[in-house]
Amino acid sequence: MRDIQHYLRSRAADFEEDLCRLLRIPSVSADGKYRSDVERAAQWIADQFERLGVAREVIPTAGHPLVYAETPAVPGAPRVLVYGHYDVQPPDPLGEWISPPFEPTRRDGDLFARGATDDKGQLLTHVKSLEAWMRVRGGLPLQVKFLIEGEEEVGSEHLDGFLRANAERLACDVVVISDSSQFSPDLPAITYGLRGIAYFELRVTGPRQDLHSGTFGGSIMNPANALTAILARLIDDRGRIQVPGFYDDVLPLTDQERSQFRALPFDEDRFQGRIGVPKLHGEDGYTTLERRWARPTFDINGLWSGYQGEGSKTVLPARAGAKFSFRLVPNQNPAKVAECLRGFLASVCPPGVTYELIEMHGGAGYVADLSSPYLAAAARAIERGFGTAPVFIREGGSIPIVSSFRKHLKADSLLLGWGLDDDNAHGPNEKLRIADFHRGIAASAHLWNELASR
Ligand code: BES
Ligand code: MN
Ligand code: MN
Repeated sequence: MRDIQHYLRSRAADFEEDLCRLLRIPSVSADGKYRSDVERAAQWIADQFERLGVAREVIPTAGHPLVYAETPAVPGAPRVLVYGHYDVQPPDPLGEWISPPFEPTRRDGDLFARGATDDKGQLLTHVKSLEAWMRVRGGLPLQVKFLIEGEEEVGSEHLDGFLRANAERLACDVVVISDSSQFSPDLPAITYGLRGIAYFELRVTGPRQDLHSGTFGGSIMNPANALTAILARLIDDRGRIQVPGFYDDVLPLTDQERSQFRALPFDEDRFQGRIGVPKLHGEDGYTTLERRWARPTFDINGLWSGYQGEGSKTVLPARAGAKFSFRLVPNQNPAKVAECLRGFLASVCPPGVTYELIEMHGGAGYVADLSSPYLAAAARAIERGFGTAPVFIREGGSIPIVSSFRKHLKADSLLLGWGLDDDNAHGPNEKLRIADFHRGIAASAHLWNELASR
């Protein structure tokens, strides 16, 4: 691998420049005003493959396009599908960015921009390791198919159907995804479990229009009061979700897994300090890592009603609404959670208002088969790329399409994260350590070798 390592070193500055080019494209999938930028990002990625002479295609969907590329088949070697996403979260709140979100800026060894870690910087590592193999060796030791989507941050609505319809074309032995994190700086990790999600919007409606709160207050149900009463009943002060049936399918943590979590070098005080809260909080009876990785949650993600401007206004709002979501653990089913929630709302909604529950998106959780030989190959590749053997962890985030890969392609996923927990994904000042970008490329270059000779 000397030849390839040498190539990676000689091209390091160009790789960073290319990452900056991709980061300058504001490919925000949630907001229609960025539609042409989203398309430009897809095209930019397709061009990366074109320069290498790799077969590629920008595939339109009913939403944002997919980029698909594949290298030639290598008989006798496993086939790998690399998945990633070129779309990013909205950059708000804009005022909190130290440098503008779509002007990549280096500070102290970090590269700051929306998408730096989630997922442009991470996904590009696999494109650049492909480049190294193509330029130095003329090809890869195994077949790699790339599937890069533009709707991950809005629930991958059109990808499941594409997998079902193209299962033969996408056939593979294992999926590789770099869209997660290391355990801590300089301690890389392989993530063997992810949580699922069930996301909702609840709209509560009261009177025909806003009313004077003195003239009418006390004679009707205020929809903001009703909404907050409902939300407050969803979870108790010991962190237990109160929806009947919610915990029915939850797999309890095994003693073995609990002791594995406890063996990881995790410092609760430092974690608390970094986040800036006076006290950590969660479900009674579980550690912070257990709560984050292997227990379900309920969280309000957005909440609105009434007057929010300067000063005060005595008003009964006509409407109130909330966006909220449950993180789910493996074996919980988002559709069943929605059904339980509908039953719960019917029983707790106060009289005098009506409501509408909108199911936004959902996805099941995931745990990998830890005995896979591909997992061992990935661990060797990471050790070579990072200089440290990875630990095996779970994470609290969701990549719903991972369970679709299992269902439609019968393939497990290797979740090889090059990011860090404090990369500020989805928040202001998102970043990626530049050293991790290069280590990720090196690990990816080793990965093709290790998987081919597993
Ligand atoms: N890369 C994240 C998922 C992730 C986060 C994995 C943290 C591991 C650790 C992904 O881009 C993401 O944000 N997913 C959404 C999914 C949702 C939109 C369906 C999430 O977890 O909120
Ligand atoms: Mn991501
Ligand atoms: Mn994300």
